[in-house]
Amino acid sequence: MTTQPENHTTPAHDQRFGENHITIFDTTLRDGEQSPGCSMNKEEKVQVAKVLDAMGVGVIEGGFPVSSNSDFEAVSEIAGVVQSAQVAGLARARPGDIDRAWQALQHAANPRIHTFLSTSPLHMKYKLQMDPEDVYQAVIDSVTYARNLCPNVEWSPEDGTRTDHDFLCRCVEAAIKAGARTINIPDTVGYTVPDEFRDLIRMLRNRVPNMDQAIISVHCHNDLGLAVANSLAAVEAGARQVECTINGIGERAGNAALEEIVMALKTRQDMMPYETGVDSGYITKASRLVSGITGFNVQPNKAIVGKNAFAHESGIHQDGMLKNAETYEIMTPESVGLTRSTLVMGRHSGKHAFKTKLKELGYELSDNELKDAFQRFKDLAGHKKEVFDEDLLALVDDAVLRHNDHIRFVRLGINCGNDGPQTADLELEVEGTRKRVTAEGSGPVDATFRAIREIWPHEATLELYQVHAVTGGTDAQAEVTVRLEENGKTVNGQGADYDTLVASARAYINALNKLMVKREKQVPPEEAADALSA
Ligand code: KIV
Ligand code: ZN
Repeated sequence: MTTQPENHTTPAHDQRFGENHITIFDTTLRDGEQSPGCSMNKEEKVQVAKVLDAMGVGVIEGGFPVSSNSDFEAVSEIAGVVQSAQVAGLARARPGDIDRAWQALQHAANPRIHTFLSTSPLHMKYKLQMDPEDVYQAVIDSVTYARNLCPNVEWSPEDGTRTDHDFLCRCVEAAIKAGARTINIPDTVGYTVPDEFRDLIRMLRNRVPNMDQAIISVHCHNDLGLAVANSLAAVEAGARQVECTINGIGERAGNAALEEIVMALKTRQDMMPYETGVDSGYITKASRLVSGITGFNVQPNKAIVGKNAFAHESGIHQDGMLKNAETYEIMTPESVGLTRSTLVMGRHSGKHAFKTKLKELGYELSDNELKDAFQRFKDLAGHKKEVFDEDLLALVDDAVLRHNDHIRFVRLGINCGNDGPQTADLELEVEGTRKRVTAEGSGPVDATFRAIREIWPHEATLELYQVHAVTGGTDAQAEVTVRLEENGKTVNGQGADYDTLVASARAYINALNKLMVKREKQVPPEEAADALSA
C-alpha cells in the first residue's frame, strides 16, 4: 500500500472535506436488513439510523422503498429524523421504483436516490434477459429520470466486478453524463481480490473520460472473506466512498464491516492517511444495537466488536498488558466505545438516572417508551441483585422497540417438573385485544410455543431455539433467540427476561412480528428476481 494517496479532487468532491476524506455509506438498513433472518420494523430502523447519524456516517441507506409499505415508511421516517447524514433509498431502473424512493426521501435534508442495474454478461442474459444495448439505454433513462427528481443520484452497475471492462466504462460514462454524482462499483458476489479490484478502480479513472465528475464508491460482499481488504485496496486506487454495514451483516457472507473499515483507517494512518469523520466511540453501541435487533449474535472472535476482541487470557499476554497495554493492543477498547461493564443501577435508582444511563448507551426514548422501559427495569432490579449495561441493553431492545408490534406479550404462568403435565397459561395482546389460552406440551418451552400457536395460528417452522445468559451468575437474565422459517423466508426473534420461559415467549413473539414485516416485503412476481437479488 502507498503512503501517498492518489490525488482525487473532483468537481463531485464534497468541498467541506479534503481530498483524503472517505465517505462512509452505511447500508445496514438496506443490504443488511435484506439478508436471510434479518428484518427490522420501522421503530428499530429509526433507532439504528439515529445512532449512525450521531456516529457521523456520511450516508445512511434506509431501505428499498418499493419493496413494502413498511420499508417505505421507515425510509420516510428516517429521512425526517436524520440531521447530518445524507439519506439514500434504493431503486431499480424503473420509474415506479424511483418515484417511490423519491416520495420517501424528498423531505430529507440531504436526500439521495440510489439506482442500479446489472451489467455483467451473466446477469444481463439470465436475470434481466436484456441485450447489452437495452441495458445501456436503461442506464441513461433511469439516471436521467432520477436526476430530474433529485440532484443527488448514485448509480451502481450490479455485478460490476464480473462486467466486461469496455461495457462497464461505457455505462459509467453514460451514467455520469446523465447526472449521476456517485458511481458505486459493487462486488455483488464477493468474487474479486484486492489487486484486481485496485486495478479495476484505476482502470475506470484512466479510461472513463468524465470520471472526475463523480465520486467512486465501492460496495464489497464477503464471500471470500475479502470485503474489507478489497474496499481498502479500492480506496488506495482513488475510491472515496465505501459502502458497508454494522457487524458486516448482509446477503450470504455479508458486506464489508463498517467497524473494520473505520478502525483500519484510523489505526493505520501511517499506511492509509484518510479520514472518515466517523466517531469510532459509537461502534460498540451500534454493534450491540444491531445484533440485539436482528438476533444475529456477533461471533466472539469478530474483529473490533467480538466479545473477545479486547480479551487477553494467556498468562504471557496478561503480563505484557499489565506492563504496557500496547504490547498486545493495537487500539484501545475505549476507542471503539467499549467501557468495562459496570454496575449501573439497582432497585433504588430513579427514573432520571435511568434515562441518563440509557442516553449514555445510545437510546433516546420518548416519555411513553421511557415509562415502559422503566417499569421493566424496576421489575428486573427487584429480581436481580446487580444490573449491568448488558442487562439494560437487552431490556430496552426487548421492551421499547416493539411497542407497535401486532402481537405483544402480557403474561405467562408455567407448570413444570417431572410429576405432572407441563402446561403454559399464556396471555397475549393481538392487535389490541387480549387473548388467553392454556396449552400442554412436552416440556415448558414446547407448552409455551404451543400456546402461542393456538392464539396466533401459523405455518412457520422453528429452526433454532437458543438461550444464553446476558451476564454471569445464576440470577442472570436469559436472552433467547428463536428462528422461524416460512416459505423460504427466515427471521430471528429475540427476547430477554430473568425468567427463561418468559424470554422464550418474548423471542417467539418477536420472530412472529418480524415474519409479518417480512411477509409484507413483496414485489410483483415478474419483478421478484430482480428486486430481491440486489
Ligand atoms: O450487492 C450489490 O450489488 C448491491 C447493489 C444494489 C449496490 O447491493
Ligand atoms: Zn450488496
